[in-house]
Amino acid sequence: MQTRWELGSELDWSNGLLMSFASKNLLPEKYELFSTASAALLSLGSLLNKNEGRRLRIHIPSFFCMDVVAKLSNILDVCWYRDLPTEMSPDFSTLKTLPGDLILVVNLFGVRDEKVWQDWLTENEKAILIEDHSHDPFSPWAQQSTAHYAISSLRKTLPIPDGGIIYSPQYLELPRTSGIESFGAYRRLTSMLLKRAFLSGIDISKDVYRQMDVESQEYFDEHELSDISELTANAVSDFTANILNHLNIPHFRRQREANIRHFVNWNLSGENFLWKHLVKSWPPEGVPLSVILLCQTQEIRDALRKHLISQNIFAPIHWLQPRKGISSNDPLAIDLSSRILTIPTDQRYSIDDITYVAGIVGNFFDRIE
Ligand SMILES: Cc1ncc(COP(=O)(O)O)c(C=O)c1O
Repeated sequence: MQTRWELGSELDWSNGLLMSFASKNLLPEKYELFSTASAALLSLGSLLNKNEGRRLRIHIPSFFCMDVVAKLSNILDVCWYRDLPTEMSPDFSTLKTLPGDLILVVNLFGVRDEKVWQDWLTENEKAILIEDHSHDPFSPWAQQSTAHYAISSLRKTLPIPDGGIIYSPQYLELPRTSGIESFGAYRRLTSMLLKRAFLSGIDISKDVYRQMDVESQEYFDEHELSDISELTANAVSDFTANILNHLNIPHFRRQREANIRHFVNWNLSGENFLWKHLVKSWPPEGVPLSVILLCQTQEIRDALRKHLISQNIFAPIHWLQPRKGISSNDPLAIDLSSRILTIPTDQRYSIDDITYVAGIVGNFFDRIE
């Protein structure tokens, strides 16, 4: 049977991803697994609101996922601070906190350094830090965090249908799940299995599994909220809970890092006024999310994305804004979000795949120069 090649889009499932023995090494000592990271964040916000007896404020980086902010704004008052992917640290002069405020600290694209936040916290002890490690859930920073809370959307980098982890490096009380898994996990796992069959050459409609994937997100987004102090959010599925410790995460991280390094080294010399790499270096033992390109204009970014789709390469945008009526109103963040493009380079791909994709990107820019 002829296998099908494509790059990007949702992760699929394969038993080849598993180790025969379980390994707990990379997970924190104590944690709670929700269906999604948004569910974990919402439950934490709800718990902290309840403990304080008021609706709290949360400070969000101006370059972030607006879908998540749309959900958080249901239970928390959203404030913004400037944090751009072109800089290695936030603009702290824009972070104006009051005692008891929550701050979402994001290890953006997995290339950031925790030191700037440790320094900031020594001057601002009354703020509550919630670190988001979704872009590199097992980085040294994530593992040695000293924040009040840390979360990761594990399902973004691991081949699992659901999974958002929350832990407290300071051993504070964690929010609890409702104990019930989301139907979204079943929908999503079905989609992952069908995608694997499709890629193996089986005559399955791509539209079918993609539609299931969209529906799964709709189920995940259903959080029950009766008032600000009572939110019930789904638990992780039994499937994910049982498979997590059998995934070969160190191997996935090594492969991702090697792929990104290869892509960046391969066409770094091709950078010019039309485009550049946003991720060129990262902390020791850290693994960036992906290759991140910044184009000169939105038109060039959109043309590149369209060209890549014609070659079966599906490049997402991290992140569109405004979206769902939410915007940081930071002109620099909005401009960058219109010119940025992520090239998937995860564990599914070999160095040969990456060489091929880097060549296509390089040729695209050679042609329009
Ligand atoms: C950096 C980051 N954190 C958190 C989330 C929320 O994750 P989930 O989709 O599991 O709710 C996302 C989702 O896109 C994200 O990109």
